[in-house]
Amino acid sequence: MNLYQYLKEYSKEIYPMHMPGHKRNFSIVGETPLKEIDVTEVEGTDDLHDPEGIILKSMEKTAELYGSYFCRYVVNGSTCGILSAIYAFTERGDRVLVARNCHKSVYNAINICGLLPVYVTPEYDDEFSINGSISPALVEKALNEYPDIKLCVLTSPTYEGVVSNISAISKILHEKNIPLAVDEAHGAHLGFSEYFPKSAIKSGADCVIHSTHKTLPCLTQTAAVHICKSLWEGEKLQEACQKLTEALGIFETSSPSYVLMSSIDQCMNYLSENSVKAFESYKNMLADFSEKAKDLKYIKILCKGNDRKENHKSFYDFDSGKLVISLKNTNLNGAEFEKILREKYKIQTEMTSLNYCVAMTSFCDSEKGFEMLFNALSHIDQEYGAENIFINENTMGGKIIEPPVSIYEAQKCQKEYVSLEEAEGKICGEYVFAYPPGIPIFAPGELITKELTEEIKSLYKAKINLKSSGGNIPEKILVLK
Ligand SMILES: Cc1ncc(COP(=O)(O)O)c(C=O)c1O
Repeated sequence: MNLYQYLKEYSKEIYPMHMPGHKRNFSIVGETPLKEIDVTEVEGTDDLHDPEGIILKSMEKTAELYGSYFCRYVVNGSTCGILSAIYAFTERGDRVLVARNCHKSVYNAINICGLLPVYVTPEYDDEFSINGSISPALVEKALNEYPDIKLCVLTSPTYEGVVSNISAISKILHEKNIPLAVDEAHGAHLGFSEYFPKSAIKSGADCVIHSTHKTLPCLTQTAAVHICKSLWEGEKLQEACQKLTEALGIFETSSPSYVLMSSIDQCMNYLSENSVKAFESYKNMLADFSEKAKDLKYIKILCKGNDRKENHKSFYDFDSGKLVISLKNTNLNGAEFEKILREKYKIQTEMTSLNYCVAMTSFCDSEKGFEMLFNALSHIDQEYGAENIFINENTMGGKIIEPPVSIYEAQKCQKEYVSLEEAEGKICGEYVFAYPPGIPIFAPGELITKELTEEIKSLYKAKINLKSSGGNIPEKILVLK
């Protein structure tokens, strides 16, 4: 079977509780006859890298829809949007304040742009063992300790749906004239309904990056970068737009796909006319699922069923579209649960960690999809439930960390492989990830602590997909000589 055949079989057999957000539900946004519209820059089709016509108009309408000042479509994912934004708004050698739970593209941008990162770590939610929000007070403290910071980059919502207080954080940064870029890759659906948190665009961020393919009905790889009229005004605002455009010209393919661009265009047209109806029915499906989840005895779903947002002191807000399924009170780990769900119940989730799984939803999900998931959870709850209550404590939350060596320098240094035990106290020479979510557990230049090596061991034991740049994890890790 080749890839094409496999994909056709997969989509017939498995319900996708994962991205892309169209969930194959083309009755909502219309069929896209992919091959017929796969063209290039010719008369009338405009040019993404120098837009003057039909693409420009579409992006202007999208900016209006979201309430941003400027929008550019991206066909290489948020990854490209993030690389471009960080490149555009920094100069080599600048110090940047970065949430430690950012996606790997942020670390790659720091490396490519030769920046000096200071990390702020999110608060931690012990009950679900996930990262909480970034505290505004911590951002303020970091700015006082490092007055030369030139840009702040945060992820909100996170892969698990946790939202930070962007209004408070942007206010603190703007008092010191520092722009805020928000990786809102998981939040392109925010701003259309009060059932979901306020978008970063409306909360004072200066640059916001969306993966339209994650939570909206757009094809994989589609994204958008927005510039907002917040800190920047007048000439500065024009300059920011110009710099972003130039940066996208560097990082983005010179042959942007019309199939991808038109899928963003179609989705935005759909939202301009139907967002109220679409989000009302989405909200109802989520609320109904949450109500039913009250019957689960062992499996917990974050901020759903009997769990409340108020129980999670480390969250500023939470995106109800994410279903974070905690398996702590079952006899299953994340990988085992995912396998049962796929093989027995024909549902594939988006992300698996040690003791939870993330199912991604969108307004294109069907009532039947939610019902299938709930029925599966209900059976698994009865079959594998156990009073196993354990709490993972994490002492890394709420810290400011300046790595001893920058990523750029660490990549250039002489390195050697050592065992995880030997690595403790040394400086890391490579990336180690669990993918997804693609947040480095170790980044080059960081001090390797016992806590982090223990995390690697437990993830490996639970069969979580671990990757390192050198490919030798968990046996060996690259450290600086
Ligand atoms: C928080 C976050 N930011 C950025 C990205 C990159 O997005 P894309 O896959 O659209 O390049 C991801 C990917 O999963 C992500 O989780």
